Amino acid sequence: MLITIPDVLSAEEIAHARSALDAAEWIDGKVTAGYQAQAVKENLQLPEGHPVAVKLGEMVLSALARSPLFMSAALPLKVFPPMFNRYTGGGHFGTHVDTAIRAFATTGQRIRTDVSATLFLTAPENYDGGELLVEDTYGTHSVKLPAGHIVLYPATSLHRVTPVTRGARVSSFFWIQSMIRADQDRTLLYDLDGAIQRLAKDLPGSQTGVQLTGVYHNLLRRWAEM
Ligand code: NI
Repeated sequence: MLITIPDVLSAEEIAHARSALDAAEWIDGKVTAGYQAQAVKENLQLPEGHPVAVKLGEMVLSALARSPLFMSAALPLKVFPPMFNRYTGGGHFGTHVDTAIRAFATTGQRIRTDVSATLFLTAPENYDGGELLVEDTYGTHSVKLPAGHIVLYPATSLHRVTPVTRGARVSSFFWIQSMIRADQDRTLLYDLDGAIQRLAKDLPGSQTGVQLTGVYHNLLRRWAEM
């Protein structure tokens, strides 16, 4: 499941993030790439544990915690501290799959990457290229979102970022270990949750809604890993 969550950050939060990031010193993005990804990765990153990344990462995580859509779609158990990258001057990231298990450099905290997330911090009209292309069995999906929007997609997918040929594309990226490991199972729960919420609006107090809510929680109880 590939899902967009609009307006995770406010205009003020985006402006704050951009001015802090524009003033920070960036390093070669190859430092966090695995063996295969290193060969195809050409971008810049803030070092893990960089004070600006830590501060802004906390802002991103608290914004996500306020998002019912994020909670429903990702069913997060652990979230990797958000990182920040910058593509400019032809920078790109060729086709790769994200590393399955990641340890955060400063804390050693390890997570299994079930869901990949990109939070766009640059308005799309301010750069050319820089599309995130995500492959699945239904074809390739091109994602280029307004600043403050986030895309979630299965970390199991092959994906790439096309060269940025004008301007700069600044984003936050991170991973989620979900309570529900398999994308198909998360998708089922997400669809069921959405149907229950629509039913609650259309038929408030419906017994069917109560029954389906029970099914949702009992599936979650059965499948969740903690
Ligand atoms: Ni990736």
